[in-house]
Amino acid sequence: MSEPQLKVLLDPDWETGSLVDDVRRGLLSHPRTLPPRWLYDDRGSALFDQITRLPEYYPFLAERSILEQHAADIAAASGATTLVELGSGTSEKTRLLLDAFTAKGQLTRFTPVDVSEGTLREAAARIAAAYPGVEVVGLVGDFTLHLGHLPSGGRRMVAFLGGTIGNLYREERAAFLGALADLLEPGDSFLLGTDLVKSADRLIAAYDDSAGVTEAFIRNALTVVNRELGADFDQSAFSYVPFWDPHMERMDLRLRAEVPQRVRLPGAGLELDLAMGEELRVEISTKFRPERLAAELEAAGLGVAQAWTDDAGDFALTLATKG
Ligand code: AVJ
Repeated sequence: MSEPQLKVLLDPDWETGSLVDDVRRGLLSHPRTLPPRWLYDDRGSALFDQITRLPEYYPFLAERSILEQHAADIAAASGATTLVELGSGTSEKTRLLLDAFTAKGQLTRFTPVDVSEGTLREAAARIAAAYPGVEVVGLVGDFTLHLGHLPSGGRRMVAFLGGTIGNLYREERAAFLGALADLLEPGDSFLLGTDLVKSADRLIAAYDDSAGVTEAFIRNALTVVNRELGADFDQSAFSYVPFWDPHMERMDLRLRAEVPQRVRLPGAGLELDLAMGEELRVEISTKFRPERLAAELEAAGLGVAQAWTDDAGDFALTLATKG
């Protein structure tokens, strides 16, 4: 078995530095926001893992069923020899892709990219052990900052699964897709997972589950900020308010201050006075329509080569190429 390599692109102060910047920028904007990338500490990652096992949370199951049905088609259509996965986490679904690519004997390298060094180290070791013929080179980095460090050579397919692109605002998506398109060479491809627009009832059920796991996941934003920045957010003073924004076609997951309050965040040099009813947006989860998605990809210089959905049409995997 070949040992996985790990390249750390984040400097040690990155975490605290960007948390402070993100929290300051977010809490001073309107509506006030807390950036979703900080939800994934150990507890948040464990809660997200539980979310994926909720019966109401269809995106996980839908994407997995597409991969189960079409991984071989995806491997054939991309023809890639290197698989890059952005925000790979535990690389659980990636195995479906890795199986299909290795079955064709075409895969030489796998590069998972994730901000969490611990998660990446474990995932890289497990993948390296299970796929002895594949060189595993993990990158500890942020997919919005470190795209320039992706491995070069061979035919590459960059996968960005889970619907995570829906966490980004339109301008952020345009910047991300543009940067990605810039570094793709002819022959490379991009596999994007997106949740699709559907009835508000099902969307709300998926983000307001009866077991309260999603609420705990969103509330973890306050726990992280209290711990990392010495803040004194009082959980009991907030209620969880998830809603579907039909104009923006996105879920908007917020915490609402139920009483007027002063919150201190010494680590960010902030003191906030929250009015009663004031809301903190913790996460957006944008849902897509295939035509609009194609237009966003095209605006970035990426053309749709092929797209797959699950039988219910809940979720899409889109393979795009440059040009
Ligand atoms: C991992 C970002 C795709 O938006 O559905 C799940 C995160 N938040 N439930 C999503 C999430 C609340 C999830 N993504």
